[in-house]
Amino acid sequence: AGLVIAMDGPSGSGKSSASRGVARALGLRYLDTGAMYRAMTWWMLRQGVDLADSDAIVARAAEPEIVSGTDPGGPTIHVDGIDVAGPIRETEVTASVSVVAAVPEVRSRLVALQREIIGDGDIVVEGRDIGTVVAPDATLKIYLTASAEARARRRHAELAGTTVEAQQAAMARRDTIDSTRRADPLSMAAGAVELDTTALNLEEVIAEVLRLAEA
Ligand code: CDP
Repeated sequence: AGLVIAMDGPSGSGKSSASRGVARALGLRYLDTGAMYRAMTWWMLRQGVDLADSDAIVARAAEPEIVSGTDPGGPTIHVDGIDVAGPIRETEVTASVSVVAAVPEVRSRLVALQREIIGDGDIVVEGRDIGTVVAPDATLKIYLTASAEARARRRHAELAGTTVEAQQAAMARRDTIDSTRRADPLSMAAGAVELDTTALNLEEVIAEVLRLAEA
């Protein structure tokens, strides 16, 4: 089977940019599993599903057709044929995604889709549970971390209209849900290499992952 590189960690740890950079450098495909949870959440909101009612989420979770493109130069995401790359990054989706992602039936459906896409490998897969659940046999597992302040600063730089403090509070809320949910909480996989990116720039993070991939 081909190479599978699992890149897990909390938001703002630099996963997306680093994962795409590594995939490009090695000529691999790239899968952003967070975008799939965001796409599911976008669809639920659009359908008017009451997200406080987990039974309502379960009842609809099999419906949306979610399709991910895996070119690291231009990853794409469609729901029922609609390009949702922009809408899934909006505040409303970001504020609700951890609630939807905590529903076991949502996770099992998306994990199955992710395994289909991974197939024979040659791919960098980014998420929260890749090394632990989606691809426990991955060739290389990286767990990216950074200080809460560095993560909030990076995310703030990407988004207009918030303060660093508000950003840090919103991320902390999401991190708490992600790491305390009963189904597949965010945690470091057995055999994962922890990489603290607080003091590293993007090029340095990519170089370190490439070094680990060669070793
Ligand atoms: O963009 P950011 O790194 O903040 O988050 P993301 O990777 O887009 O993921 C959004 C949310 O989806 C996370 O906060 C988790 O609640 C959920 N997620 C998950 O549960 N499992 C994954 N493999 C990926 C994302």
